[in-house]
Amino acid sequence: MADIKNKRHSEWSSRFAFILAATGSAVGLGNIWKFPYITGENGGGAFVIVYLLCVVVIGIPIMMAETMIGRRGRQNPVNAMKTLAQEAGADSRWRYLGWLGVAAGVIILSYYSVIAGWAMAYVLKSISGTFIDGSAQQIGGFFDAFVKDSGAQVFWHTSFMVITMLVVVRGVREGLEKAVRFLMPSLFILLILLVGYAMNTDAYDQGLSFMFDPDFSKITGSSILTAMGHAFFTLSLGMGAIMVYGSYLPKDVSISQTAFMVAGADTLVALLAGIAIFPLVFANGLEPSTGPGLIFQTLPIAFGQMTGGVIFGTLFFVLLFFAALSSSISLIEPAVAWMVENKGYSRVKTCVFLGAGVWFLGLGTVFSFNEWADFTFLGKNIFECLDFLTANIMLPAGGLLIAVFSGWVMTRTQSRDELQLNNKGLYYCWFILVRYVSPAAVFLVFIHVLGIL
Ligand code: TRP
Repeated sequence: MADIKNKRHSEWSSRFAFILAATGSAVGLGNIWKFPYITGENGGGAFVIVYLLCVVVIGIPIMMAETMIGRRGRQNPVNAMKTLAQEAGADSRWRYLGWLGVAAGVIILSYYSVIAGWAMAYVLKSISGTFIDGSAQQIGGFFDAFVKDSGAQVFWHTSFMVITMLVVVRGVREGLEKAVRFLMPSLFILLILLVGYAMNTDAYDQGLSFMFDPDFSKITGSSILTAMGHAFFTLSLGMGAIMVYGSYLPKDVSISQTAFMVAGADTLVALLAGIAIFPLVFANGLEPSTGPGLIFQTLPIAFGQMTGGVIFGTLFFVLLFFAALSSSISLIEPAVAWMVENKGYSRVKTCVFLGAGVWFLGLGTVFSFNEWADFTFLGKNIFECLDFLTANIMLPAGGLLIAVFSGWVMTRTQSRDELQLNNKGLYYCWFILVRYVSPAAVFLVFIHVLGIL
């Protein structure tokens, strides 16, 4: 990424490097923090099925489309959209889609950073033995006291933003590529360990049945919207993050295979997190619908009871922090790439400027858990508003436009040339999904929700 200035757009060192970066972007707080708590809030099994369906029918085809647009455009999302629109003889206003993405990334990062700050704070709490033998009430109490402490919240949010921007200044490929290579597998192993622990609680079956036995009477229009929005959020789609990463992808790499691998790994991590958490919820008489504090109020109970819990707990929150970091970078990279490539700012100046803006915006989320908790709009506090606006509206809208662009604006020759799907059937399957199925699905969900609002 460092040689953007020389106009020669750099490339990932290998297909594996792209898979790592894209997985690093996809696997994050969305899988481990958000997926369990929204599953809990939306009644479990049926919600999980809708989410999985969205990943397959909307997520994977759009991930392929985004990677393809990125690789063909070879620039930041705004320019990539402009170039490809020109190439297809279409309106250059398609570049506003790039803009929508840049804005979504900045807003998401503002609250993402606050939650990542929680993970950092929990590293310290674990290492200092706070959770040893803690009861569910005590651990819940720690969390409540922690989010009410606005000073601590600002401190951790600031720390996370500073670290993110320091990594982004150096460029995504150095450092991060290496770190993700061993951190992701470690996180995976730790999750398996937690699942093992959950298996030994007497509520394991209850947890599993909550997650996998669908009760469709619990599904509402808004939970379908949440499930769809989360499919975009968890795969990092709809805002150009994967487009930017795709722009560094060597020509000979199969886009479909990589998309399947990234989506598969991402889904597996989310399901494992759920399987680890819900048995703990039921074993300790907690409510699945606790909200954003869910993992912070359940996992420490397990760490407090298991042998070696101080080590495993610390390690878990360290890895969660790294998973958040590799995601944050992809949230801000489209904005950074745009300012560096189009506005000619230096990378350092860009990072300081953007970092400060995102930090400031994040204060809204910080205070929505304490001082401004009563400040609501349509029944949602600031954090919930930002989350709803980005995950449920901006990302699906961005994804819809990406699907329309690759299914209707780009010619079939262009997309076939870029996707290089030798299997004709597979290409048509993708084409029909992005041309008809995914745009229609997103559109119908939007209409449905507007109708019931
Ligand atoms: N996918 C990440 C997660 O699940 C969050 C994320 C990173 C993201 N980059 C993104 C979400 C781009 C939407 C768009 O935690």
